Amino acid sequence: MSAPTDEGDGQSLERVPRALSTREAWLDPFDWYAEMREDRPVRYDDDRRCWDVFRYDDVDRILDDPETFSSDPRLASAIDLPPEEEQSPILETMLTTDGDRHDRLRGVVEDWFRPRAIAERAGRFEAIAADLLDDAIDGGRMDLVDDFAYPFPVIVIAELLGVPSEDRPQFRRWSETLVETPTDTSDDAMEAFQRRQQQASEELADYFEAKLDARAREPRDDLISVIAEAAGADRLTGEEALGFCMLLLVAGNITTTNLVGNAMRCLTAHPEAMERVRTGDVAMESTIEEVLRYRSPVQALARVATRDVELRGMDIEEGDTVVPWLGAANRDPSVFESPEQFRVDRAPNPHFGFGRGTHYCLGAPLARMEARIGLRALFDRAADIRRVGEQLQPVRSAFIYGVEEFPIEFRPQ
Ligand code: HEM
Repeated sequence: MSAPTDEGDGQSLERVPRALSTREAWLDPFDWYAEMREDRPVRYDDDRRCWDVFRYDDVDRILDDPETFSSDPRLASAIDLPPEEEQSPILETMLTTDGDRHDRLRGVVEDWFRPRAIAERAGRFEAIAADLLDDAIDGGRMDLVDDFAYPFPVIVIAELLGVPSEDRPQFRRWSETLVETPTDTSDDAMEAFQRRQQQASEELADYFEAKLDARAREPRDDLISVIAEAAGADRLTGEEALGFCMLLLVAGNITTTNLVGNAMRCLTAHPEAMERVRTGDVAMESTIEEVLRYRSPVQALARVATRDVELRGMDIEEGDTVVPWLGAANRDPSVFESPEQFRVDRAPNPHFGFGRGTHYCLGAPLARMEARIGLRALFDRAADIRRVGEQLQPVRSAFIYGVEEFPIEFRPQ
């Protein structure tokens, strides 16, 4: 993973491909994707020591075959992980495990994230969105990310987990550090970066350890209690329980912020589409699906080959890291008509915005509902929304796609 810079460099597996290492290219990587889909659909990148895969069918095949393409980074020959005792509990989660272990972990909280269970909480989520926007909307100008798209999903996931949402400045610092990618790959800078990540991971683990202990003694109606109970019944190890809390906090947070941010980036660039959504001429649901396709908050995933395998004529070896580019597959013209057009009423829309297969996003129903409620609450309070201000700054990560800030002006309603 890496953060793009204005200078443009890039030399390790942790960085974005060289072609995307400028700010502009990472804000709009789609021309490069088109070129790669056409000319080098499966290519090896010597800088990052991994395979990049761009076409829809190939991404589909990888995500559909977890036995051959594992989610466990510990199997990768090119990744130097810290010694086991120093590894973050975040490696002990459903996201980084396969097979029975993955299913056992996912099963602990699956019921909580089903669409019906999430829908029961809609009223509470609407109240959170209303509070935030009523505070922010007054002056006819706000930063969509800082004032709304960031705090909204954090408060929601904090409530579901059962931790005080006032701790959210810390959540933001921890989550951003954990998904951050280095801009400077000199030895000193990399060392400092790894120390920062290690420290964030330890602080987050300490934070949740205390919460898990408290809920084990006194359970409540929240996710930490469910996780503590599973650990108490030996269905989870201590490390797995900690990793669980960390994963849910981090996964449910920056991704949803970017879905809301990216939605407004798309809609302010297409005012006629925004008007159709505002007035209900086109469904909010299909609009959100199109944002997930057109500006996917997660652009790429990582897998490790568990055996030698051929993909589109290329020989991938056991232990090789393979990066399926969801953002490129989501614009593959062999699946999507006029893929470079943002069409709020696109149907069907079989995008990979939430992945696919056994690791398909657990939080998809929650993220969809948050985006629906958030955008509706914004449109109810603000008309003529326009993007203002300076250059956009991409989020500092090679997998997560969004903007750091998004100032808007509007007419309060
Ligand atoms: C998995 C995207 C929101 C929890 C995934 C994956 C993607 C994704 C692409 C697949 C990862 C892989 O195959 O390696 C998104 C996007 C979101 C979002 C775009 C918002 C727009 C959420 C939320 C939560 C969540 C709100 C809940 C707290 C998870 C978990 C997994 C996951 C736990 C791992 C599932 C598994 O491995 O079985 N997400 N996500 N996500 N997501 Fe999300």
